Amino acid sequence: MAKQIHLNGFVQNSPSPHSTGLWKHKKDEGIKHNQISYWTETAKVLERGMFDAVFIADVLGTYSVYGGNHESAVRHAVQLPAHDPLLPISAMAAVTEHIGFAPTISATYAQPYSLARQLSTLDHLTEGRIAWNVVTSYLESEAINLGLSGRLPKELRYDRADEFLEVVYKLWEHSWEEDAVVYNREKDIFANPEKVHAIDHEGEFFRVPGVHLTEPSPQRTPVLFQAGASPRGRDFAAKHAEAVFTKGHSLEALKSYTKDLRNRTIQQGRKGEDIRIFPMVLPIIGSTEAEAYAKYEDLKNHVSYEGTAALLSGHTGIDFSVYNPDQYLEDMETEAVQGNLDMYTKDPNKKWTLREAVQNHGLGNGTVKFIGTPEQIADKLETWAIEGDADGFNIAQSYSLETFREFVDHVVPELQKRGIYRTEYKGKTLRENLFETGNPHLPDNHPARKRKSLI
Ligand SMILES: Cc1cc2nc3c(=O)[nH]c(=O)nc-3n(C[C@H](O)[C@H](O)[C@H](O)COP(=O)(O)O)c2cc1C
Repeated sequence: MAKQIHLNGFVQNSPSPHSTGLWKHKKDEGIKHNQISYWTETAKVLERGMFDAVFIADVLGTYSVYGGNHESAVRHAVQLPAHDPLLPISAMAAVTEHIGFAPTISATYAQPYSLARQLSTLDHLTEGRIAWNVVTSYLESEAINLGLSGRLPKELRYDRADEFLEVVYKLWEHSWEEDAVVYNREKDIFANPEKVHAIDHEGEFFRVPGVHLTEPSPQRTPVLFQAGASPRGRDFAAKHAEAVFTKGHSLEALKSYTKDLRNRTIQQGRKGEDIRIFPMVLPIIGSTEAEAYAKYEDLKNHVSYEGTAALLSGHTGIDFSVYNPDQYLEDMETEAVQGNLDMYTKDPNKKWTLREAVQNHGLGNGTVKFIGTPEQIADKLETWAIEGDADGFNIAQSYSLETFREFVDHVVPELQKRGIYRTEYKGKTLRENLFETGNPHLPDNHPARKRKSLI
């Protein structure tokens, strides 16, 4: 069978979060993100397109690196308002049967004990369709509003995240035995206390002595998504993640990323194919190539320059308000999102000025744009999947939700015609659909399964 492509829809609970300024486009419905019907429609459209999951990005702060304040972010809706990513999920699950949900929650600011309960509850309610996008967060404004004096250094954030996962693995995988719940009405026993274990976790960052608050959910551990780009971030993904997101604008960059990440995964004692790699793509679809390019011009005209400069400043940690727009961006290490800076400073094909980077970043958060007819876009997806060793794509939007509708109506049938995309969901849970293994649980070579000896 030809290699099968997987798809996620990239969203955030904010108006046009990944194409800054597009909220004002006549086709954009992003300002309705505060209504349940917006989310139920998103889930239904993506399930019609047989996507694996709705991937819900999130930040817990404002983009206030630019000019040292939040004014540009407020003026141009730069991922602000930023509503909660978890709360629409039950509503979306109620109107769908198969599609999964991958909310982003920060391992830097959440507590493992309560996060484990939230995601187990959702895994129950969705009958096994939950993932967790594990991030370590990059905005200074998040740290400050969550009680810290400043953002923790990246190394420390990843150390904390590592221990965070150790705690939730103990709760999800080892606290409740599979047959702990007995529902014995005659003997008046709901669950057998001998089969529910306290995890007694004591570490550098967390002390969690108790038992998990929920009985085992269909997947136990939700599917683990990650998107770290720095060397430490990649090692973290290689150790823990089942799916990773990446962003870039060339096939060459993707090839080097997938090779590197699969090698790192093998070094962690896992198999290269244990990790699903999803580059992000913004599709711009026309019935002819000329129409698609005309559409691209129209979309670019809706991008907000100042808003995108503020977004890029938050993503890279650099205050671009003091830069000359025609200045070239310099390569450096950042405590914010390394991948967002590398896109413009490590491009072998081009030196980027700030103006060019901002113009590019304004659509699909700077990721690659596939522009053309449905056939041309399917060609590109196929090439990137095969030559770039990607397992699928994270589809971003210019105007929402119409970008998803156009993709589902025109590109998905083309992928199906080529035999490289599902025509029905085979599994029941998200993990089964992603890996086609028939197993709703993590494989035994994953660190979460090996931690039994720890409790
Ligand atoms: C496609 C993509 C999506 C991301 N989504 C989020 C997000 O929603 N929230 C967040 O805090 N970080 C997000 N990140 C950032 C990373 O997960 C990570 O925490 C950050 O990049 C810092 O680590 P790094 O320098 O190792 O990449 C995303 C990164 C990529 C590439």
